[in-house]
Amino acid sequence: MLLLGIDLGTSFIKVSVVDSQTGKRIATAQYPDSEAEIISVKKGWAEQDPLIWWENTKRAIKKANSSGSYNPKDIGAIGIAYQMHGLVIVDENQQPLRNSIIWCDSRAVEIGNQAFSALNSKGFLQSHLNSPGNFTASKLAWVKENEPEVYERIYKFMLPGDFLCMCLTKQINSNPSSISEGILWDFEKDELSETLLNHYGIDRSLVPDIQPIFSNYGSLDSAVASELGLSERTIVSYKAGDQPNNALSLGVIDAGEVAATAGTSGVIYAVSDHLIFDKESRVNSFAHVNHSKDQSNIGVLLCINGTGIQNSWIKKLTAKGLDYDQINEKAAEVAVGSEGIVVLPFGNGAERMLNNKTVQGHIENLDFVRHDESHVWRAVQEGIAHSFRYGLDIIRENDIHPSVIKAGYANMFLSPIFQQSFAGVTQVPVELYENDGSVGAALGAGIGAEVYKDKKEAFSGLKKIKTIEPSDKDLYNDLYGAWNKSLLQKL
Ligand code: XUL
Repeated sequence: MLLLGIDLGTSFIKVSVVDSQTGKRIATAQYPDSEAEIISVKKGWAEQDPLIWWENTKRAIKKANSSGSYNPKDIGAIGIAYQMHGLVIVDENQQPLRNSIIWCDSRAVEIGNQAFSALNSKGFLQSHLNSPGNFTASKLAWVKENEPEVYERIYKFMLPGDFLCMCLTKQINSNPSSISEGILWDFEKDELSETLLNHYGIDRSLVPDIQPIFSNYGSLDSAVASELGLSERTIVSYKAGDQPNNALSLGVIDAGEVAATAGTSGVIYAVSDHLIFDKESRVNSFAHVNHSKDQSNIGVLLCINGTGIQNSWIKKLTAKGLDYDQINEKAAEVAVGSEGIVVLPFGNGAERMLNNKTVQGHIENLDFVRHDESHVWRAVQEGIAHSFRYGLDIIRENDIHPSVIKAGYANMFLSPIFQQSFAGVTQVPVELYENDGSVGAALGAGIGAEVYKDKKEAFSGLKKIKTIEPSDKDLYNDLYGAWNKSLLQKL
């Protein structure tokens, strides 16, 4: 059987077709070629049009089909990985009622903070493992408060992956892992959170049906199947946030295993086998893909909103005509520490690890005589690595001490400077694997369609590319100290 994986990222949609027997990718395509727009009409807001996600998904699937390397009718199951925590609302005709309010949008911070003060005395953290924060439920509460005429027309709200699944199948459903990203999962009761729904006055009927994460979410709508050249028998059998999906694809499944990504955002994701939470909700706890009431598996997630987006921003502004490899070569001519430049990469909305403050991006200590763009390029990558260390220290405070971190050889982990800075400042070895979210989603679909006997079997072909050993502990500690001092002045 062939499997199709869709990765709905912030920058583009990527699809891969994988042969379930060999586990090998036989075609891939992405759309658009350049980075998609984030619409921001007010400071701190971030939106995207879900219908553009759908259009781009169809284009990417058609592009992969046109490779001619497989028969699209042989695709038996589809898996979807998606940008997390977004809000999509649709009417009875399954039409979006407004743009999606996406993961890095900060407008609901205050609503979430107020809910947390009101609810936490009743043990909200113990049962939900997070503050309502700036997540999906709080975003929906924002719509209720600020756009009542839109809110009234809502038939269902959903996460971005649920929306793509609805477009493919015309079925509206979700799963506990996705619902937990919106802080609407009560882990103690193992059910949808009546507490937060009631607090925000959200009617339960607006919540999609909740199914197991690996399950049949519906078969393709016949018109969609015929437009995409796929079979009507093809099912969607897996949906997960991009971070749990990345962890699964790296074989990070059981307690003690840790994954990382450094795309638009940066994440460290550690699996724990008990209901763990940070008391300030600076790192978050969501249901991992194998969580159940009988066997807790919690993904403890540190997110930095401003990671690859900081790197691509500086490239766009200062490195016209150069690609990332060329930038990295120039930056490598500068010594570790970037001759004193400090970069705080916090210009992509409220940062959860900084108690949902919007610190903004900063480039400091510039010396117009000694520094040129190569120093800034290096400092950007080092600043991002330092912010990972800041977050990892919070994870360590919560008694999780990674001995190795696994990441896909992709995005910022392609950069030797970033690899070395990350391992140096965290003092944790980093293993880099051939890994891709869309391939992970395809293999996840294989688990959902029961092609594989278990999760480990699905990812048994995982190939390690290299291990980066930490070096220069004292040097990186000193550099981190200076970076941290600069951050603390802004908090
Ligand atoms: C994770 C998070 C981001 C988005 C990016 O909690 O908010 O990594 O998932 O797509």
